[in-house]
Amino acid sequence: MKLVKSLANLGYGSRRQVALMFREGRVTDAAGEVLYADDTPQWHEVHVDGEPLDPPPGLLLMLHKPAGYTCSTKDRGRLVYDLLPPRFAHRSPTLSTVGRLDRETSGLLLMTDDGQLLHRIISPKSKLPKVYEATLAEPLRGDEAATFASGTLMLDSETTPLLPAELEVLSPTRARLTLHEGRYHQVRRMFAAVGNHVDALHRSHVGGLSLGDLPEGEWRMLDESDRTQLFA
Ligand code: URA
Repeated sequence: MKLVKSLANLGYGSRRQVALMFREGRVTDAAGEVLYADDTPQWHEVHVDGEPLDPPPGLLLMLHKPAGYTCSTKDRGRLVYDLLPPRFAHRSPTLSTVGRLDRETSGLLLMTDDGQLLHRIISPKSKLPKVYEATLAEPLRGDEAATFASGTLMLDSETTPLLPAELEVLSPTRARLTLHEGRYHQVRRMFAAVGNHVDALHRSHVGGLSLGDLPEGEWRMLDESDRTQLFA
């Protein structure tokens, strides 16, 4: 692919703006030598304004989503894209969230521009566990774990029961819930089904990946070993 198109697809600007960046000498190799639009360097050699080029298509990243941010490219209020470099919202192929977290849910959110990978992660066949920590309005009654594990719990307006899920009680009003599917507002609706209300919700794990020490509001690229861990 031509360098101008590659940079435009990474969100550096329109093809016309990128062509101008070449004429201004802003695109160089690692040693600072100016590159021209028809040069064919290796990806890792290209720098823009002295910074290495963003990763090529096929990226997977993890964001520690704070509460109050929406998983959408256009919505009123704060968006998860506001926490990434502005270029990332203009990439082609598009960088999408892998599933969604509600605006008021915090925690581990994956994002990728690889459609096949996205489907593999969210596919029920992959059965990737997702772990949530919920802070509840009411003390737990004691029968919730059995109800959630039963495989017979039916949520309002659904036609198939939920898969068994594991509940671990952390305190009278805090619980860890592991799900093996992802339905709309699933955790909040599950606790509503047992007469409770989720005051705060945080996702700590997807598959074998956890947030580790990634601070809230920060993100990091995931490499091959992270991907192996995700599906482990
Ligand atoms: N379940 C919910 O209710 N909300 C989320 O954000 C994720 C799972």
